[in-house]
Amino acid sequence: MRIAMIGTGYVGLVSGACFAEFGLEVVGVDKDESKIRMLEEGRIPIYEPGLDALVDKHKAAGRLSFTTDLAEAIDGADAIFIGVGTPSRRGDGHADLTYVFAAAEEIAAKLKHDTLVVTKSTVPVGTGRRLQKIFKTQRPDLEIDVASNPEFLREGSAIEDFLRPDRVVCGVESDRAREILAQCYRPLNLIETPILFTALETAELIKYATNAFLATKITFINELADLCERVGADVQQVAKGMGLDGRIGRKFLHAGPGYGGSCFPKDTLALLRTGEQYNTHLRIVETVVNVNEGRKRRMVRKITDACGGSVAGKTIAILGVTFKPNTDDMRESPSLVIVPALQAEGAVIRAYDPEGMREAAKLLPDVGWCQDSYHALEGADAAVILTEWNEFRGLDLDRARSLMRQPLIVDLRNIFDPAQVAKAGFAYTSVGRPVAAGPT
Ligand code: UDX
Repeated sequence: MRIAMIGTGYVGLVSGACFAEFGLEVVGVDKDESKIRMLEEGRIPIYEPGLDALVDKHKAAGRLSFTTDLAEAIDGADAIFIGVGTPSRRGDGHADLTYVFAAAEEIAAKLKHDTLVVTKSTVPVGTGRRLQKIFKTQRPDLEIDVASNPEFLREGSAIEDFLRPDRVVCGVESDRAREILAQCYRPLNLIETPILFTALETAELIKYATNAFLATKITFINELADLCERVGADVQQVAKGMGLDGRIGRKFLHAGPGYGGSCFPKDTLALLRTGEQYNTHLRIVETVVNVNEGRKRRMVRKITDACGGSVAGKTIAILGVTFKPNTDDMRESPSLVIVPALQAEGAVIRAYDPEGMREAAKLLPDVGWCQDSYHALEGADAAVILTEWNEFRGLDLDRARSLMRQPLIVDLRNIFDPAQVAKAGFAYTSVGRPVAAGPT
């Protein structure tokens, strides 16, 4: 089997390398020459644990190659996957399908044989149908099947998610499409992964429904965390107690500063817009979007309150700026709202993130970027944990205290044990947990 993967961004690159791991011959295509050059030289444009080794391995084995020439990549391919970006369209929140349709147009112009075109990018309901029309109109001489095969990859554990998924969803319209996709994912039969074959529209909607549901779960526990703080309950135990009910499940019930990233914010919005288009008001999703937006701003108030009502003239050390750990991705990160808001209230910001600082420096001006956590804590009036990187969990609290001007930690990811931090002499505020007694 030989496939072409159009797009060597996050989705395309991870999926391409993982399909190579499944034994397929994969050609990755991108218009961006610098990206292809980097990949050819063995450099990976994004940070994703394990990806460099996987790309190297399959390049060396001759199963994975890269090109800017789409015609060459699709020539003879059993399937052509479209893994380009579908960002939020500025202004209206619809998914921007410019790159998807540009890829389809180019495929239609250059294809020489019957084949299967699969959308791997997250595309709104009805996109597969529109692609079918493009191919039918422009290439009536060829039989081009269209399928939808959404990805469910989490940044930071994308390879594991691809190689050992909970399920694979394939929206297909023909036996041929079904057979080709079944072949692509054949190694998953060994680990008995359910492969769900559905209609095109259903597969497209499963992706959005999944992300919107997970965003709802997070937003639910975030609101519950607020209530926990008022009534003196512990949100982590509430989440555990709820999650042990098999109907609910324990995952995605970690309270925090609000969800961010490249998927949840964009996909919940796009789902709302699809609802509107089809005269369906998705009120729960709409509320989730609004509550999550408000939450990032409420976190600013939480930090200010912990600092005694004002951050003006105070130095705040921010530990973690990416939207989650094990990524350098800053997209829709709560830090992009929280840091400027603190600065607007007069705070001086020092910050450290293990992987995200290069990208963050472009987006967050006037921040003192530091070489490690301790450097960031020097002279700080408060330390704010914004991302739960593992290395912050192991912080030497005595050393931290000796460096800071005021011993105060605002932990928006609940990475510390309140009793332990209090014992180390810190005033400590976290999310949805009883406030620990401060230093005496
Ligand atoms: C998500 C989906 O999980 C993945 O299936 C989809 O394909 C792409 O979007 P990702 O954005 O990489 O993946 O990260 P994820 O781990 O899902 O976290 C998303 C956001 O939710 C992060 O900001 C994270 O901090 C937050 N989150 C997650 C919580 O606040 N609490 C949780 O319990 C889980």
